[in-house]
Amino acid sequence: MSSDGVNSGRRKFLTAATSLVGVAGVVGVAVPFVGSWNPSAKAKAAGAPVKADVSKLEPGQMVVVEWRGKPVYVVNRTESQLEELPKLNDLLKDPDSLISDQPAYIKGTDRSIKPNLLVIVGLCTHLGCAPKFRPDVGAPELSVGGTEWEGGFFCPCHGSKFDLSGRVYEGVPASSNLVVPPYTFEGDDVLVIGVDWEAA
Ligand code: FES
Repeated sequence: MSSDGVNSGRRKFLTAATSLVGVAGVVGVAVPFVGSWNPSAKAKAAGAPVKADVSKLEPGQMVVVEWRGKPVYVVNRTESQLEELPKLNDLLKDPDSLISDQPAYIKGTDRSIKPNLLVIVGLCTHLGCAPKFRPDVGAPELSVGGTEWEGGFFCPCHGSKFDLSGRVYEGVPASSNLVVPPYTFEGDDVLVIGVDWEAA
């Protein structure tokens, strides 16, 4: 495990509510659930895009944005977290996301447009529970085949595990990676979920 100055050995992540600019309605304890600049509930249910300013999302932090009634996890991954992703390929069911649901413009181990910024639907691909964000490297109960846990997502319903790209591990009930929704950006800082990047 490399070091990025954030105590990557046993990284303790900030989970307090962030001060995302223009974001209101923070809910929950562990992870902020944000919703701002969003259309009406009726429009959202119909599939309108939602926007979130991610400029204040600190490295290692996650926020949840509601889109079409689903939680979308947005994680600002650190350099060291990104470096670990390719090393996990042999432990995963679909490391290259060949059978998983993601837009055509999402490629590679980071499964993202901006390498650091992961955007995934927070619903387990087994039976739809909400996986928990578990960035705590080395958590003994999450070790995979004796390999140290490098951070990711753990589904409490039946134990599926996903890495920090939402890629599913071998030996768990879920059979495909967490879904990447269509998304794009307005400028550098505003994430738009529900609009395809190539169409922007
Ligand atoms: S719903 Fe996640 S493991 Fe079953």
